[in-house]
Amino acid sequence: GAPVEVDVSNIPAGQMITVEWRGKPVWIMHRTPEQLAALKGLDPELADPHSDRPGYTPEYAKNEYRSRKPELFVCVGICTHLGCSPTPALAAGPQPGLPADWQGGFNCPCHGSTFDLAGRVFSNKPAPDNLEVPPYSYSADGTRIVVG
Ligand code: FES
Repeated sequence: GAPVEVDVSNIPAGQMITVEWRGKPVWIMHRTPEQLAALKGLDPELADPHSDRPGYTPEYAKNEYRSRKPELFVCVGICTHLGCSPTPALAAGPQPGLPADWQGGFNCPCHGSTFDLAGRVFSNKPAPDNLEVPPYSYSADGTRIVVG
């Protein structure tokens, strides 16, 4: 499949867009400073907090935010369990079916796997791995990314 170029300069903070790449949904989320700060406290609850497992995280995303730039998160929106597409549950706070201390993330409707706003899977869920970060790069002026 061909690479997909996306204008990321107008995604409001706290919101995301979905684009298609190789027939898969790719999520691009503009995380707020508060959302980035909340990620730091979640490590003990996660199966692979530092994305050490092979195959899902390119070298440039092996950092605390799993992204090239902290604010912009890019991942393939397909559950690493059996391939459902998780539902965004971006806002922090109590929501049906989610922990009371939910900090925002994604919730797979098929078997209940949950992921944080860096696509990191919570422990003791059926999904074995973090959501995949696809190959992507920024344009020189930083307003666009190319996925693929
Ligand atoms: Fe997502 Fe099973 S496919 S939890």
